[in-house]
Order: sequence, then C-alpha cells, then structure tokens
Amino acid sequence: MCGIVGYVGKQSCAPILIDGLRRLEYRGYDSAGLAVHDGTSLKVVRAVGKLRNLESEISQRPLAGSLGIGHTRWATHGRPSEINAHPHVAGKIAVIHNGIIENYLKLRARLVASGARIVSDTDTEIIAHLIDQHARRGLALEDAVRAALKEVEGAYAIVVISETETDKMVVAKNASPLVIGLGDNENFCASDIPALLQHTNRVIILEDGDMAVVTASRVAITTLEGKAIDRHTKAISWSPVMAEKAGYKHFMLKEIFEQPRAIEDTLRGRLDREHGEISGEEIGLSKQEIQDIQRIYLVACGTSYYAAMTGQYYFERLARIRSNLELASEFRGRDPVIGEGDLVVAISQSGETLDTLMAAKAAKEKGAKVISISNVIGSAIPRISDASFYTHAGPEIGVASTKCFTAQLSALLMLSIYIASHNGALEAKRVKSLIEGLARVPQQMREVLQGTRQLVVNLAKRYVEAKDVLFLGRGLNLPVALEGALKLKEISYVHAEGYAAGEMKHGPIALIDANLPVIVLVPDDDCRERTKSNLQEAKARGAKIIAVATEGDEEIHGMSDEVVEIPRTDNEFIPFLTVLPLQLYAYYVADFKGTDVDQPRNLAKTVTVE
Ligand code: F6R
Repeated sequence: MCGIVGYVGKQSCAPILIDGLRRLEYRGYDSAGLAVHDGTSLKVVRAVGKLRNLESEISQRPLAGSLGIGHTRWATHGRPSEINAHPHVAGKIAVIHNGIIENYLKLRARLVASGARIVSDTDTEIIAHLIDQHARRGLALEDAVRAALKEVEGAYAIVVISETETDKMVVAKNASPLVIGLGDNENFCASDIPALLQHTNRVIILEDGDMAVVTASRVAITTLEGKAIDRHTKAISWSPVMAEKAGYKHFMLKEIFEQPRAIEDTLRGRLDREHGEISGEEIGLSKQEIQDIQRIYLVACGTSYYAAMTGQYYFERLARIRSNLELASEFRGRDPVIGEGDLVVAISQSGETLDTLMAAKAAKEKGAKVISISNVIGSAIPRISDASFYTHAGPEIGVASTKCFTAQLSALLMLSIYIASHNGALEAKRVKSLIEGLARVPQQMREVLQGTRQLVVNLAKRYVEAKDVLFLGRGLNLPVALEGALKLKEISYVHAEGYAAGEMKHGPIALIDANLPVIVLVPDDDCRERTKSNLQEAKARGAKIIAVATEGDEEIHGMSDEVVEIPRTDNEFIPFLTVLPLQLYAYYVADFKGTDVDQPRNLAKTVTVE
C-alpha cells in the first residue's frame, strides 16, 4: 500500500503534491519522492523516511513546474532506500505506482537481456522501462502505457508523465485505488480522496481496467483497449479527516474492513492455482533443507503470538513437523535447546519488537535458520533473518492489530502448505484444494463483515456494561478466543479471559454466573461436539451465551442466547472468519464506552523495550 498523487494545471505543483502526500502518509511512509516537469526536463527528488525528509531535500533543491507526480511508499519489493523510492525514471518516462506486479521477475529478466539498465529492486521500475521501450518506438505516451500494461500481471494504480509531453499525465488502475479530482483548468489524481479535498470535492473514482489521459482541461477515460468510457463525477461531502479514514470513525474499524484486501495482497503472486503450488522463492529453503527440518519454533508476542499458535496447528497438521510455540519474551531467557536442523519462524507485524528480535538473534547464534513474517519491509527482524515472507497488509495505524493478524494467518498457512508440499506430507490433490480454499477466503471474509456487523453492534450495546467477558474455543479457535479477549481488554479496558473450552472445568467455570457473557467459538469443525458440551456447561450455570457458529446450525441456535453465523468452510480457514465478529465486538464496546480506540492508554504500536 502506497500513496500516489498527480497534478496538471497552472499552479506550481510541488506544494500541492507534498500536501497531498501528507494526507496519504497513513498509506505508507518509508520513503517519498516527487517528479516535476520544469518546462524542459523532468526533475526528480526522493528521500528515505518520513515526508519531512523529502520536504527538507526540496527546500535545498526547489522544484518548479506545473505538471508533476508524488509518491509516499510502503515497500513491497526492495527495502526502503532512496534508490527504491518512487518516482522511477526510465529514459524520458517517470512513473509512480501502488500495487504489486506479479510477473516482474520475468519482465525484469527480459528487459535486462534487451539492454535496459535497471537500478532498483522494485517492480515499479520495470513498468517505467516497459513504457520507455514502447515510447522509443514512437508511440504517444498513452499508447506506450497501454502497450506496457498489456504485458503486466498484478495490481497497480499508476501515474505516468513524460519529458516530451508536457501537458498530460496518464493514469491507469487494476486492483489498487485511484481517483481523479476535477478542478478549474487544473486536474488532480490520487490514491485516495483525502489528498484531493483541499482543492476540489468533485471526483471520478476509476474502476479496474480503466485508463485516463488527464490534462488541465480534460479527462479522457478509456479501457486498456482504448474504448471510451463515461464515469460519473461524484460530489464528496466528507471532511479531510473523515476522508483519511475512508469515512470510518476510527482507523481500527477501517482496518477491520480492509482485511479482505490485505489478504488478497498477501496472497497475490504466491498462489499458483494453475499448477496447484505455492510460489516460495522468498522462503529461501531448498527441498533438502525442508526435508532436514527437525523442529519448528514459532516465536512472537501479543497478537502475533496468537497467529503463531494457529501456525503451530498448521505446521503440525499439514506439514507433520514437530512445532513449538514460544513467547518471545520467555524464549531467550530459557536457554532453549535449539540448533542446526531447527527452523525458527519469527512473527512480528512491526518487525521491530525487541523481544522477538532478541529471540530470533539468539536462535540464529545457536545455528537455527530464521524465517520472519513481518509487515514492514526492511525492518529489524527481517534484516537479521535468513529469509523473509512478508505480509502485504499495508501500514496498520490502529494500535490494536487486526488486519495484520489475519494477514499473518495467511502467510503461515502458505508457508506450511509450501513445506508440506516439499516434504511429502501432503498429496498434490490436497495442496490444490487448500490453495483453492485460501483463494476463496477474502470473499468469505467480506460476507462475514457485512453480514454480522449490525448484529455485533447490537450485542456490544447490550453487553457494554459487563465487567468481565469469557471467550472459549478449541483447536484452531483457541487462538481466536485468546485474540478476542486481548482485543476487548486493550481497547475497551474490560476484563476478558480467553480460555481453552476444555480447560474451563478445571477452574474458570467457578467464575460463571448470570452476569457473565460467554462468547463460544463453536463452528462446524472437528471440535464442534466437544465445544458444544462446554457451551452447555456454561449455559447450565446461567451464563449468557453468544455463539459464533456455522450458518444454519439449529442445534447451536437452540442452546445459545445469540448466534453470530459464519459461512461453512474447511477447518484451516475458519479462524479467518471467526475472528472478525470478535474484532468488531471489541471495537463497538470500546466505541460505546468512548475510549481512545486507535491509541488506547498505556500502549504503543511498536514495543522496543524488554
Ligand atoms: C495487540 C497488539 C500487540 C502486538 C505485539 C507484537 O493488538 O498489537 O499485542 O501484536 O506488541 O507486535 P509485533 O507484531 O509488531 O511484533
């Protein structure tokens, strides 16, 4: 996820672009850059880190001109660095891009063979070179963009300007957002509405497959094939702050609803559905190394630890490898018996959590191999790891992790399927069906988010005064129960416990009375019968039962006060769905209580102390 802006008109564009980027910084902030046409040539300034670094560069080297593009980056290919920052230039072409190009390695090899000088590690530079090659054949900018995009597979929103065509920008989109803002004798484009609202509230929201030539006085929208399209102009009534959160009240709620997109981006280019394989180049393990794995250690903290708990289940059930689950803060101090032949999977959204970093370093020193799963390219944990398998959820702004949790589940599931298909634990047919199932998850998540939201709002209203809440689950739903309790605790300050449903009778059942809401995760999986008994035990002691169950499960309806339904799916995918109503429940309880949802008390997004 990155932020892009473009301007064509009569004003000096650099301040407009910088202002737009500031309003898009929530989409990424590891580097930023501008390209401005000064009437003679394209001038590019880029800087690593927050936008203020770019601003200070520009104050040294001012950019004059009224055609320009700007970008704030959240790395997906290539670490944050000046050379990897956008805009990328090839010949007379400058490009900014938000998205992931799936076939960029193949295209890169072809471009290099044809003599292109590629200097960055990004997929975006490939687009710039492709357009440049077509432009050199004498094509107009829009035709060169069109020809280049026919070769590209993946997600993109791009804005392209050329040194030789001083009055236009060419934009195109597929699976990444792009809007055009309409001014008076000036036009704008951006990834998102907040970047435009200072200048105009008249916008055109482009659809996948759209391309547009934008000049100061005209916007001509076509398909990639060149067929003219008419798109409506919308008048936006949001304030700039509302717009940054896409109309949601808090970033956390926006991020909850962004999860299907976050999973799609994390899966993108990694599921080879045609051959029934996971593309695992980034995993960096040879077949022999996979076969030699003795034991897997999953190391993490907080929400990432609950994702790791799901990973333990995946690695054992699918890849049949002994797997240990480790709290990073305990792991190092225990002086664990670990060494060659062991694989450590270090999971951290930020990639900077000190406990996880120290645990991964200690394991590496003892000879284990370390693979990290992180959402921040080039962060500390990936940097010390032997390989990194990134989630592509985009920056998570709410302190309480939501979209990164489910993105981590998808990465762990892909990693375990990959290992299982290389160590012979799973047959090709089963691998293929898991891959097909995983590809369906984002759509099922959309259904759950839309289908359960109002019911969960009502539940949160009803139980907002509850002093304690118990969450019960088994198997793959135990980590979800623990995560549901953590979410509620951290943002609403309500005491909550997540518990293994089968352990309840060994103590916590004493807590149950008529005032206690018990949220029981009892979907139709291989634990349903046993969890159902635990639900009845709680019910018999007067608890209010809120069940999360598979749609149409009348038996569970009959024994619960409320049922939140999820669609029927295979065991492995259920946590992606059951966690959604729990995130929403925590959010709405906190919102009704009026807490600071995005920045709860005493917490920090990145914990760099032991
Ligand atoms: C809870 C939450 C924290 C983090 C934990 C680890 O919502 O966000 O529990 O999961 O601090 O952070 P990362 O994943 O960055 O290592």
